[in-house]
Amino acid sequence: MTTRKRILTGDRPTGRLHLGHYVGSIQARAKLQHEYETFLIIADLHMLTTKNSKRDIDDIGENARQMVIDYISCGIDPDLVTIYLQSAVHEVYELNTIFQNLITVPHLERLPSLKDMARAADKEEMPYGLLGYPVLQAADILTPRAHLVPVGKDNLAHVEVTRVIARRFNNLYGDVFPVPDALVPEIGTLVGTDGQAKMSKSLGNAILLSDDAKAVRKKVFSMYTDPNRISADIPGRVEGNPVFIYHDTFNPNIAEVDDLKERYRSGTVGDVEVKEKLNIAINNFLDPIRERRAEIEADSGYVDEVIFQGTLRAGEEARATLLAAKKAMGLTGVWNRIRRKAEKRRKRIAKQTFTSVD
Ligand code: TRP
Repeated sequence: MTTRKRILTGDRPTGRLHLGHYVGSIQARAKLQHEYETFLIIADLHMLTTKNSKRDIDDIGENARQMVIDYISCGIDPDLVTIYLQSAVHEVYELNTIFQNLITVPHLERLPSLKDMARAADKEEMPYGLLGYPVLQAADILTPRAHLVPVGKDNLAHVEVTRVIARRFNNLYGDVFPVPDALVPEIGTLVGTDGQAKMSKSLGNAILLSDDAKAVRKKVFSMYTDPNRISADIPGRVEGNPVFIYHDTFNPNIAEVDDLKERYRSGTVGDVEVKEKLNIAINNFLDPIRERRAEIEADSGYVDEVIFQGTLRAGEEARATLLAAKKAMGLTGVWNRIRRKAEKRRKRIAKQTFTSVD
C-alpha cells in the first residue's frame, strides 16, 4: 500500500455546527477524506485558552459528541478519518513545550487573530496560553506529521507559525517534520441570516445542521433581504442579498433560482415566495443529514466509540512522532544514559552487599 499524504484539521468543541461550517469546512473534509489520510482533532485544549470555567469544561463532552454527530451526518466517515480528543493525547502537550522554543513572543504578538480572540473573550490582557494558541496548533498539526491543513482564513497565520516551527526544528535537529501547506476553501464564509458577514452561533444568525423543519422555516422567514424593498412591486437587489446567496448555495434547481432572481429584479415576486422556496430547498438539503443524525443518536455509545478508537489511534501516532522528535534532539539519549548508569550502580551495590554477606 502506498502511504497517502495526511491532513490534520479540527474544531474547538463549542457545540452544534451550522450551515456556515458545512460550506466552509465540512463539505471539503468529506471530499478530501478519500484522497488523504485525515485526522480530525477536537481541540478542547484550544478552547481552554479563552473558555476555561468549570461550566465550559463540563460542556466539552456533550459539545464534542454533538459536533461529531454533525461530522458523520454530513458524510465524514469514521472508517476513513481519525477523530480524536486533543486533551487525551498527552504527547501534544509535550510537543507544545518543545515547540515553544522555536518561535518568538514578538512573532506571536503580531498576529491579529489572537488579539481578536482576546477581545472577543473580554480579556483585557493577553493570557499566556492564548499567546501560545498557534504553537499548540503546530503541535496538533505536526503530531501526525500532516502535509495539508484545511483551515479558514482566520487560521492561515497559525499554519504559517507551524511552517516556521517545522523548518526551525528540522534545521536544528534534522528532518522530522513535513512543512505543511494550508488549504483555504474558495467558498469562504457564509453570510448570516441577518446579513452580517459571517454565520456564527454566538451572533444568533445561524441555521444549525440539527435544526428541525420548523426552526429552519422560522429562521428563513425572518431573514434579512433588500431593506429598500418595502413591497413586492419594488425592484430588488439580488447581489449580496443573503436570501439569494443561500439560494445559490443550497437550491439545486437553477432554473427556479434564475426565475426568482429575474422577478425579484423587476419587482414581480414577493419575499414570501422567495423565502418559501428557500425554506424548501434548505429543508431538502438537511433532510438526509437529519436522517443520519437520528440513526446515530439511536445507537447509544456509538459516537463515544468513534472518539475513543480515534483517540487511541492518534495516541499511537503521537508517541511515534514524539519519540522521533526527542531522538533527533538527543533528549532520549540524555535520559537513557542517566537510567543506564543508575541501574548499573544499583546492580553493583546489590552485588557488593551480596558478596559482603557471603
Ligand atoms: N484553531 C481552530 C479553530 O479556529 C481549531 C484547531 C485546533 C485547528 N487545532 C487545529 C484547526 C489544527 C486546524 C489544525 O477553532
